[in-house]
Amino acid sequence: MQKELWIVANWKSNKTIIEALEWVSIVGPNLQIRENIKIVVCPTFNCLTELNKEIQTHNYPVALGSQDLSPFGIGAFTGEEAAELLKDLIGFSIIGHSERRTNFSETDDMVTKKVQQAKEHEIIPLVCVQGPDVPVPEGCNIVAYEPVWAIGTGTPDTPENAQKVAAEVKSRIPNINVLYGGSVTSENCVSFIKQPDISGLLIGKASLDMEEFLKIVENCGTV
Ligand code: PGA
Repeated sequence: MQKELWIVANWKSNKTIIEALEWVSIVGPNLQIRENIKIVVCPTFNCLTELNKEIQTHNYPVALGSQDLSPFGIGAFTGEEAAELLKDLIGFSIIGHSERRTNFSETDDMVTKKVQQAKEHEIIPLVCVQGPDVPVPEGCNIVAYEPVWAIGTGTPDTPENAQKVAAEVKSRIPNINVLYGGSVTSENCVSFIKQPDISGLLIGKASLDMEEFLKIVENCGTV
């Protein structure tokens, strides 16, 4: 049986609603994927409603995720996006990305609270770990190993080292799925997903480009 693969696009703070709709209207109908491959797109919050409508209307094989969510529930938390309010739009949420840890002082404790909020509202948390020893909150069954120095630099980790880290995480937390992220492209994607303990990819820059993203999905489908 082929292993389950996750291909997750992290658009970060990019794309207007019009650009996001254009992306999904071109990528959506061109995705020829096997059942074992799941495609998740994580746009900015302001694109979620429109993208959700577009995906539902055309039944594209794409799930929506957010790039973060609030560590709190609904209420007096100005500027926050509560899981309870997002749950009708998303099935996933990236949590604890290194850019949030660095630029927004996000701590392991906040990551744990966000994971709890996600789980309470049936959103799958995709926790980013920057190395094998980063704590993974209880109840997570999918993480992305993303070494900070590999993000947006054009210098990915080696598939062998990513495999080693994935195996270490898996030995600590049974039944966890480990994705790799950091400078993934259509040229190197296959070398990562071929590794026995890597279950997919978290893709930043290369996911913004429709053709490049389609190529990544197509190449992953050959494994
Ligand atoms: P990158 O980003 O693919 O642009 O390196 C990955 C990420 O930050 O999730």
